[in-house]
Amino acid sequence: MEAFQKIAAQALSAALERDVSVTEMETPPDPTMGDLAFPCFKLSKELRKAPPAISQEVAAKLNEKPELLGGLSARAVGPYVNFTVPANLLLDQVLSPIANSGDELQFGRVAKDSRETWVVEYSSPNVAKPFMIYHFRPTGLGACIERVGRYRGYKMISINHLGDWGTQFGKLFVAHELFGADLPADPQIDDLVKIYVKLHEAIEKDATIEDRAREAFKRLEQKDPVVTANWKKCIDISMKEFKKLYSRLDVNFDHIWGESHYEGELPTLIANLKKQNILIESEGAWIVNVTDAKGQELPPCILVKKDGSSIYATRDVAAALYRFDQFKFDRMTYVVGGEQKLHFQQVFGVLRRLNAPFVDRCEHVPTGLYRFKDAKMSTRKGNFVTLNEVLSVAEDRVKTLMRERGSDEGLSSEQLDEISSKIALGAVVFHDLHSDPARDVEFDLERVVDFEGETGPYLQYAHTRCLSLMRKAEKEGLKPSLENAKKRLTQDSEIALVRVMGQFPKALERTLDTRKAVPLAHFLVELARSFGTFYRDCQVVSEDRELSEARLELVDATRKLLNEGLRLLGIPRPTQM
Ligand code: ARG
Repeated sequence: MEAFQKIAAQALSAALERDVSVTEMETPPDPTMGDLAFPCFKLSKELRKAPPAISQEVAAKLNEKPELLGGLSARAVGPYVNFTVPANLLLDQVLSPIANSGDELQFGRVAKDSRETWVVEYSSPNVAKPFMIYHFRPTGLGACIERVGRYRGYKMISINHLGDWGTQFGKLFVAHELFGADLPADPQIDDLVKIYVKLHEAIEKDATIEDRAREAFKRLEQKDPVVTANWKKCIDISMKEFKKLYSRLDVNFDHIWGESHYEGELPTLIANLKKQNILIESEGAWIVNVTDAKGQELPPCILVKKDGSSIYATRDVAAALYRFDQFKFDRMTYVVGGEQKLHFQQVFGVLRRLNAPFVDRCEHVPTGLYRFKDAKMSTRKGNFVTLNEVLSVAEDRVKTLMRERGSDEGLSSEQLDEISSKIALGAVVFHDLHSDPARDVEFDLERVVDFEGETGPYLQYAHTRCLSLMRKAEKEGLKPSLENAKKRLTQDSEIALVRVMGQFPKALERTLDTRKAVPLAHFLVELARSFGTFYRDCQVVSEDRELSEARLELVDATRKLLNEGLRLLGIPRPTQM
């Protein structure tokens, strides 16, 4: 498709006698209208004509000189010039690269590390606190951006900015001193939460405990071995649980660099800011006056508290400088909850005051909260529901559905557990990623887990259907054949399916451009739908061996694309359901 985009842009440049870039090409909402669309609105003022008149003229000009079109056909559709790729070219340019890829899909893939260096920071949960939905949203999106970025040739670097520093670790230490005896032999995050809560109750009664906690944090800052050992233990306990989740979510970070990672950078940073008079004293604390990118004044950013300690923002400023120093990144994306908008504006504001050359290439991609229909969860704010709780209700629902459909038959309970866990995860991840990440999400279990409609299970099901078709055909000695496909695929629904496949690279690029998984998610739904139509209209395995093998190539290509697309979204592919 990208090749066709170029051809169309060149043809338009010639017809209009001005430069038309490939980025001006759009995708028509319905593939039957064409594969590419060029909107004429922008030209209207300059040419003093209505957009539909311009599109008519341009289309006529192009059709007078078909040599410009390199085999594409062009026609005016309202204010657009639409281009259609003919079947033979589609099979050549779309089906062939998919068919010719082995297990690793090559279609739409851009040479490894051939593009910019892009740091994505995501997930960043807090040590000694459960993994909340609040952290799941940026985890799913960040990981998707990372995977798609890699596929499209960016040099991606992923960082998990673990919340592993701050006064709460002084409190946790004192909590261990006071209530450590209550902990089980192999404590989990929940146990740490329990003693932390107890500590807060104790502080209510005796305020001096708070001073003791502050003292403990000071000792941690000074690398006291006893406090440090306790802190490390808390991190280990937390990471053990987080890693389980990450492996389930197929998330791998290049660097797990928590806030503590930047501790060593702070003294120089503070000194430097003071020397340049950027950091100024205000009521005993030290602050930086900051503006947003447009020069609008923001509340000042506190970097040093009255008691001399650094804060969350201090470590973020240090982290950004450190990462630039390490990677010389071209861009850096922070996928973090929307409540932290001001925080990032302030951090970027400090970087701007420091004339950091990269500040305009940093961005905060905000994620919204969850709203639950389920009564049990709706009473708590989105932030305070854990990912495990959500997955476990989804799993129960999947099991119920599978029993209703009879698809649990013949499965051992372990198999049922494994499959339903994959479906539940797919349902939750897809539901999260297929809508605008900045908006709040309405979590309605029945809709999320539905096996039909725009859902994860629907896509997973389409994938298993391809798998079982391939298995069946293999038993009958049939193999997908690209050669036969090129000869025999002529039906509308066959060509329409290939046409949809052709949108894959564009969907990936749009995902990166928008930093939303929505275009990829929608692409997969379109693909599954179009496959459904093909499957309804065309009998795949028939007496006609040549045609069967031609159609099998389509089934196999659909399977490969669904497999890769779901992997990029972070959705597991059960082999049966
Ligand atoms: N740990 C933080 C929290 O839970 C999120 C960190 C986001 N990243 C950052 N660079 N500040 O709120």
